[in-house]
Amino acid sequence: MEKMKVFYEELLNWYSQNRRVLPWREDPSPYHVWLSEIMLQQTRVEAVKEYYRRFLDSLPDVASLAEAPEELCLKLWEGLGYYSRVRNLKKAAVEVMENRGGEIPNTCAELKKLPGIGTYTSAAIASIAFGERIPSVDGNLLRIFSRLTMYEENIRTPAALKKAVECYTELMPEKTETIPEENPCGNFNQALMDLGNAVCLPNTTPDCGNCPISEFCRIHRERPGREADLPAIRTGKDKKVEHLTVFLIRSEGKTAVRKRPARGLLAGLYEFPNTAGELGRDEAVKWLREHSLEPLRIRRIPDAEHIFTHKKWILRGYEVITEPFSEGSIPFIMASAEEITDKYCIPSAFGTYLKWLDLNSSVPLS
Ligand code: ADE
Repeated sequence: MEKMKVFYEELLNWYSQNRRVLPWREDPSPYHVWLSEIMLQQTRVEAVKEYYRRFLDSLPDVASLAEAPEELCLKLWEGLGYYSRVRNLKKAAVEVMENRGGEIPNTCAELKKLPGIGTYTSAAIASIAFGERIPSVDGNLLRIFSRLTMYEENIRTPAALKKAVECYTELMPEKTETIPEENPCGNFNQALMDLGNAVCLPNTTPDCGNCPISEFCRIHRERPGREADLPAIRTGKDKKVEHLTVFLIRSEGKTAVRKRPARGLLAGLYEFPNTAGELGRDEAVKWLREHSLEPLRIRRIPDAEHIFTHKKWILRGYEVITEPFSEGSIPFIMASAEEITDKYCIPSAFGTYLKWLDLNSSVPLS
C-alpha cells in the first residue's frame, strides 16, 4: 500500500513540474475536454492546438455546436481527418441539448452512451473534467504499462487493455484521499500521457534517468538498457495500396470539385474529380471526353500519397485547361478558389493538389 502511494505521489509531483501547457488544460470544462479528446483521437497534440482554438472561437459551447450546420463543423475540421469524429460530436451535442438538458454527462458510463465516445475517451473526459477514478488507457499508457510490469504479449489486444486498466486502477490515487492536487485522477492520467510523450518514448531508448517512476519499473530493474524491447506490437499486415488519378480541371478561373458518395471513405466531403488507376496521358484525355470535357492543355503535376488507417492512396495528378462549356453539361461543380477555401471541405488526402492550386491560382489559365 505504501508503495502504491509513493508511485502516484512521484508521478503527480513530476506532473506538477513538467506538465505540458496545452490550451484545453487552461480551462478544463467538460465541453473543452470533450472537444480536445475527440480531436486528439488519432491526431498529434501539435496538429490539434490551432484547430481546437478555431473550433471554440466559432462554436464556444455545446449549444452552439448543436445548432451549427454540419457543413460548418466539417469546414472547421478540414485537414484533421477522420471526419466521422466531427459528425458524431455534433450528433452528441444535439443529444445533450435535446435529451439531457444541456448537461454533458458526468460519468464514464453515461458518456459512453454518446456517439463517438468509446472506452478511452469516456474515461479521459470523466477523469479530466469530472475527477472520476478511472484510467484512460491510450497508446502511451499501454506502452508504459508494458514496461512497468514487463508485459511481453502483444499490447494491441483486449486482454492487454484489461490488464493495463487493472494495473493503473490499483496505482491511481483514492478519490477520498487528501492530496495537494485539484484533480488527482485526471492528473494521474494526463501525467502518464505526458510521461509517454517526453520520457517513456516509443521506438527508442527511453529517458529512464529522468523518469519519476523508474524505481517501480520492472523492465528498468531487470533489463536495464533494454527498456525499448517492450512493448511487443502486432505485426500488422501491410496496408492495401490504391492508385488514383486526380484531375485539376480548370476553366475561366474556376476548378472542378465534386461531392463524394454519402457512404464509405471520406463520405460526403468534396474532392477533385478522380478515377481508379494510374492513367497515361491518352487515357486521361479519354476519361475527360467521357465526362464531356475537351482538354485544351493537359500536363502532369506532382504525385501525392496519403495514408489512411487501413489503406494507402498513391495519387497521380493532371492539370487540365478545358474549352469553355456550360456548367450543366458536366457532372462536377465549378468553384472559385474562395469557394474552395470557404465552402467545400476537401480532405487532406487531396492536400497536395489544394496547395498546388493555391500556389498556381494567379497563373493565367489560357
Ligand atoms: N492525448 C489525448 N488526450 C490528451 C491530453 N488530455 N493531454 C495530452 N495528450 C493527450
